[in-house]
Amino acid sequence: MKTADIRSTFLDFFRSKDHTIVPSASLVPSNDPTLLFTNSGMVPFKNVFLGSEKPGYVRAADVQRCLRAGGKHNDLDQVGYTARHHTFFEMLGNWSFGDYFKRDAIRYAWQLLTEVYKLPADRLWVTVYHTDDEAYALWNNEVGVPAERIVRIGDNKGAPFASDNFWQMADTGPCGPCTEIFFDHGPGVAGGPPGSPDEDGDRYIEIWNLVFMQFDRAPDGTLSPLPAPCVDTGMGLERLAAVLQHVHSNYEIDLFAHLIQEASRLTGTADIGNKSLRVIADHIRAASFLIVDGVLPSNEGRGYVLRRIIRRALRHGWMLGVRGDFFWKMVAPLVAEMGEAYPELAAKQAFVEQALKTEEERFGETLENGMRLFDDVASRSGKIIPGADAFRLYDTYGFPVDLTADIARERDMTVDMEGFERAMGEQRARARAASNFSTKAKLPADVASALQPTVFTGYESLDLADARIVAIVRDGKAVDQLADGEEGFLLLDRTPFYAESGGQVGDTGMLSNPSGALAVEDTQKVGGAFFAHFGTWQGSAPLLKGAVVGASVDGAQRQATVLNHSATHLLHAALRTVLGDHVAQKGSLVAPERLRFDFSHFKAVTAEELAEVERMVNDEVRRNASAEVHHMGYDEAIEFGAMALFGEKYGAEVRVLKMGDFSTELCGGTHVSRTGDIGLFKIVSESGVASGVRRIEAVTGAGAMARVADEERILGEVAGLLAATGDDVIEKLRQLFDKQKKLEKEVESFKAKAASSASADLAESATDIAGIKVVAARLEGLDAKSLRDSLDVLKQKLGDCAVILAGAAEGRVSLVAGVGGAALGRVKAGDLVAEVASRIDGKGGGRPDMAQGGGVDSPELPGILAGIPAWVESRLR
Ligand code: ALA
Repeated sequence: MKTADIRSTFLDFFRSKDHTIVPSASLVPSNDPTLLFTNSGMVPFKNVFLGSEKPGYVRAADVQRCLRAGGKHNDLDQVGYTARHHTFFEMLGNWSFGDYFKRDAIRYAWQLLTEVYKLPADRLWVTVYHTDDEAYALWNNEVGVPAERIVRIGDNKGAPFASDNFWQMADTGPCGPCTEIFFDHGPGVAGGPPGSPDEDGDRYIEIWNLVFMQFDRAPDGTLSPLPAPCVDTGMGLERLAAVLQHVHSNYEIDLFAHLIQEASRLTGTADIGNKSLRVIADHIRAASFLIVDGVLPSNEGRGYVLRRIIRRALRHGWMLGVRGDFFWKMVAPLVAEMGEAYPELAAKQAFVEQALKTEEERFGETLENGMRLFDDVASRSGKIIPGADAFRLYDTYGFPVDLTADIARERDMTVDMEGFERAMGEQRARARAASNFSTKAKLPADVASALQPTVFTGYESLDLADARIVAIVRDGKAVDQLADGEEGFLLLDRTPFYAESGGQVGDTGMLSNPSGALAVEDTQKVGGAFFAHFGTWQGSAPLLKGAVVGASVDGAQRQATVLNHSATHLLHAALRTVLGDHVAQKGSLVAPERLRFDFSHFKAVTAEELAEVERMVNDEVRRNASAEVHHMGYDEAIEFGAMALFGEKYGAEVRVLKMGDFSTELCGGTHVSRTGDIGLFKIVSESGVASGVRRIEAVTGAGAMARVADEERILGEVAGLLAATGDDVIEKLRQLFDKQKKLEKEVESFKAKAASSASADLAESATDIAGIKVVAARLEGLDAKSLRDSLDVLKQKLGDCAVILAGAAEGRVSLVAGVGGAALGRVKAGDLVAEVASRIDGKGGGRPDMAQGGGVDSPELPGILAGIPAWVESRLR
């Protein structure tokens, strides 16, 4: 049976048992800060178990995408080393929310496995939690599993309720005892039954876990019962497929076989059994679905888990000899395997490919050097990679520490994790201290006088093989060397690193020679003509003044910055066309992530104007004009039509950047070669920064794509909630608002009706005191206005009357009193209100025929109201 058929058969079976089939939720749990990822099928139902959410069905089944990388359930390190671990997998599950419990859960599972999937009953074993006699008896007596194939599993993880047969989603939340079903692959495979010393072998494989959810676990470990006992089951699709397809490794099932073939083709690896191929096949699933679910590689949280997964895959590709990009090319075969079951994957194919490609390019630049460093360290470190080296691999070469540990493990080595953490802590402290390089960019005067201005080579190329260190500055003083771990800045005779100016941020990248490297964290101009490269030297020997280093700019950062810089020029020109010639640049920041442009303009830019500006810039992008650079005299440049910035100082010869016929500006920055490189320009915000100065922030290229994708995702979620397609979201929302208005009106009219029928009841209940009808009543939830309406109705009905109504809502009481007909002049409405109000901490007053007041709700109130007829009687005497 093919994997796709196993999926659909499962759902069909439970549909026939009255289960509602629900689609897979995102890998990123919504609104659940306790959990990094959806790590099992029950995660989307957590609040249903806890009773705070009611889904409208009591039985459900689904196929849920799950990720176990990072957090409580983390299998990342296992992938590639075992036949069955995955980061990403699919979990088949059925649920009962306070409906059926142990008996039916067990019976359904048995029926599906033995009658539908036709697994031989005598190859199935089960485990139960050691005290769960009920489950034991159901298996033994009702299903007929012989006692020798039922194993009781106790608390085998060092604490009460810490057991393979007590399942919990995370350290807190829903949990309960479980029963597991195992498949016996037969005596030809090594391994013992569950609970035995060799249970970890491959012979007995857990395929299905039925959890009897009964408790909510608090952070202090105490268990409190759930509102209703529930069932949560989980069966790994890949494991079941392996059993049904008669293979012993999940990686041999049809789905993986195809992915592995592709990986072998892309990496040129003939040996299909190579474990790196498995890692790649596993990781492309995890990485792609994470991106589909809105995660992008980054340095923290979920984004960092994604980065670790991708980099691990890339390193395995590297081991197979790949030296270019390849991983993103696995997306198409993945879509072929899984796009039908998960249309969201097929829809985002291009985006996923782009995101992976960007990350590949970024890591590709340092992977090779990092591997060289690793070999070097390994050859002189014995069995343990020192923490400081693991940190250097992390900090300078982008090797997540678990990646380093993974490589170490292949060579029977380990990493000194404590040492790594220590180095990391020190780095954080340094980063805090050094957060602003520009304030430290001071060149001692004696250094400047002896040097030639730095020659900038970074317009043409991002790399320079042989730059000479002409000065080293540490703590504000010129020094002759930087020792390992020392921080400072270097001046080079020539450099491809752009130093911050004209709004464009300084380049980052790497300076290195055979004895070590300095990750350049920022480049700033010092002393007017010199480029300072900031960073910390890490090397086996000190870095000496006069030494030659290779200089290499972080190409991905620079490229992203370049797109934003050229787009800033186009934006400037577009603003002048749309808003007028008064628009002049007041400031700008051009960073890799975004651009910020401040300009003179006296009112907010309207939405239409912004749309026009954005459209105009994108038109220029598509026109794909080449960006020409000209050098000429200042006056000549102005004649040439170049925009110069007022108040800026220019030298005798200036650099002019011309993009098509659209933009000509004086500029020393780095730019695209054709406008088309920008790809896409998106305005993110428009705001005022000072009187007469507006600010526009915008993104380009991959950043713009990511923003569009984000917005699409949000729109998709809104559409999903509204059950709309993208196009009719607005119409659906409008309908919803209309409906709400209508409902509000209806509620108003129901309230009025309720008040008038309450009045009728009250009229019936009036006490007759010498011909005067007396009513004193408490009404729940009525506000002052409804009370007055009721009072009017009552007075009309009763004629000669004295009435007081107390409306209680949220701990407060509103009082209204009325006196009519023959009672007028004998009883005062104001006295009536005062009589009640004074006894409930309140006050009130009014005319003789009508008065209002209020007070605090109290258990005394009914007694006080019951005394009103007697009070009226005393007044009449
Ligand atoms: N939630 C249970 C598991 O993940 C079914 O094993």
